[in-house]
Amino acid sequence: MVRAHLARLASILALVVASSAGIAAAQDAPPSPVASPVGTAGLRSEPFGEVDGQPVERYTLTNANGIEVVILTYGGIIQSIRVPDRDGAMANVVLGFDTLDEYVASSPYFGAITGRYANRIAGGQFTLDGQTYQLPVNNPPNSLHGGEKGFDKRVWTASEGSSPDGPSLVLTYTSPDGEEGYPGTLDVTVTYTLTDNNELRIDYHATTDAPTVVNLTNHSYFNLAGEGSGTIYDHVLQLNASAFTPVDETLIPTGEIAPVAGTPFDFTRPKPIGQDIRDGSSEQILIGRGYDHNFVIDRPEGDDTSLVQVARVVDPESGRVLEVASTEPGVQLYTGNFLDGTFAGTSGKVYRQGDGFCLETQHFPDSPNQPDFPSTELRPGEEYTSTTVFAFSTEE
Ligand code: BGC
Repeated sequence: MVRAHLARLASILALVVASSAGIAAAQDAPPSPVASPVGTAGLRSEPFGEVDGQPVERYTLTNANGIEVVILTYGGIIQSIRVPDRDGAMANVVLGFDTLDEYVASSPYFGAITGRYANRIAGGQFTLDGQTYQLPVNNPPNSLHGGEKGFDKRVWTASEGSSPDGPSLVLTYTSPDGEEGYPGTLDVTVTYTLTDNNELRIDYHATTDAPTVVNLTNHSYFNLAGEGSGTIYDHVLQLNASAFTPVDETLIPTGEIAPVAGTPFDFTRPKPIGQDIRDGSSEQILIGRGYDHNFVIDRPEGDDTSLVQVARVVDPESGRVLEVASTEPGVQLYTGNFLDGTFAGTSGKVYRQGDGFCLETQHFPDSPNQPDFPSTELRPGEEYTSTTVFAFSTEE
């Protein structure tokens, strides 16, 4: 109780200090290289520039162990996550940029909220209640991650949350009816909570005033050795998924739910991500240029919605461990196949293919056109809810 009260006082103080600091110089200021002292859990904010005349803020969540998560109101982007290795050395384990301009100019969805529909919709078209909707074809011949200007490119409204589990940031955005071709006014809330158990919990909530489809996720690219330190091929991944959804040459699911057993997609037992990533006998690996596939998360019979363990990833070198749990039915494993060395990230190192991995918890790609996939429809009076937890720890 007392600690929570103190933490809240500290965070209020931090907010007051931050808001009186002024706009100058904030945009290019590098993230603090020093971990916050242990015990100063809280939330602080600072200005981070402007997009189309709209001010953008940068929020820092800190927990009692000195773990720090930095989030922008632009796209709800997770700019950095600083966690210790087995010897206590801190590193930022997500790919990103130092400045807002770089996010606006060239980000491949680094750390962003993707929506209204994460991943692809075939031909940018779907039919709902007999009406056909046309979305922007921004990844020909399909629509990707909500269209030309999805949730990753919107400025969200921020407020401080009141979770008993740790400091939390609440982001809201109202997507008008017809935005990017999607029907219905969608009211979206995304809450980030950093617990003292070193978990980053993301809760999504949405309602609509007309029938629509929705599929939200976070698009963080992780590298547990620290961003900019090379490929993630030696990271050992275990995925609780006995099946995946194979894709056609445009990365749209064929509709098949295929067992992973005997394929490069079998991560049911821990396996280095790079072990089978060059298996040229796999048509699916060739199509994806590596892993760019939705896995079907194993769940207890009859349980479609509880929070279940999805993945465990270990970087043997640093000992950093990431565990992912989610209420979602699927997870996109994307191994940064389209990172092509054309820009540098936060620490000034160029990002190349395989330098990060994404575990995007989600409903399956193209569900609006796949009647056998779990439904992504949302109707007036219903609530869309989704939770994903990223838990950080170390092992010897
Ligand atoms: C997709 C990739 C895409 C990437 C965008 C992933 O979710 O599956 O195909 O290139 O996002 O950076």
